[in-house]
Amino acid sequence: MIPVLIAYTTTEGQTRKVAEFMAGALAEQGYRADVVDVASGRAAGVQPLYAVAIVGGSVHMGHHAPELARFLRTHAGWLASVPLALFSVSLTAAREGPDSESTTARMMEDLLKETGLEPVKSCRVAGALRYSEYGPVKRMAVRSVARAAGAPVDEDVEFTDWDDVRRFAVEFARDFSGAPREVA
Ligand SMILES: Cc1cc2nc3c(=O)[nH]c(=O)nc-3n(C[C@H](O)[C@H](O)[C@H](O)COP(=O)(O)O)c2cc1C
Repeated sequence: MIPVLIAYTTTEGQTRKVAEFMAGALAEQGYRADVVDVASGRAAGVQPLYAVAIVGGSVHMGHHAPELARFLRTHAGWLASVPLALFSVSLTAAREGPDSESTTARMMEDLLKETGLEPVKSCRVAGALRYSEYGPVKRMAVRSVARAAGAPVDEDVEFTDWDDVRRFAVEFARDFSGAPREVA
């Protein structure tokens, strides 16, 4: 089985859900996907034993988590030698249009700064808002981001397009892992 690394950061859990969903979609296609939370103790011990790597995280207050940048810097040596796909989970990605796309592109560039890494594929994943799980301070912070994005400011909502997520992971693995192509 072709081994695929899926490394992620999450704050409220949506990116974990995305990472595990990708792993499930890849397993259905016969890949062996290892899912690693880069904020966990396992992250430093990740071995360069993968045919391809998918790395991603969520955006809070305009940035990806510093742990994600640290993971990319720490493992940049071998990540540069395998096909790398990057995904970014945010509310920004729930909006269509050039402004939203350029905002995500800038946040991804920031993340890759000082790593020298050049992903062969990237994906914007629309996240979720879970007001019912936030404390009062977080709820207030999210409301201002949501208001600016025209998203609900009080009810829980999941924007994630799961078909898109599946397509991104499966097409990346199919096109870049060296797996034999099915004959049409
Ligand atoms: C406190 C807070 C701040 C956020 N700031 C932003 C932001 O600046 N830009 C954005 O596009 N999304 C923002 N979001 C939306 C998150 O990216 C979205 O909720 C995502 O699903 C979180 O993923 P996670 O659960 O994996 O951390 C914010 C969410 C929270 C809770």
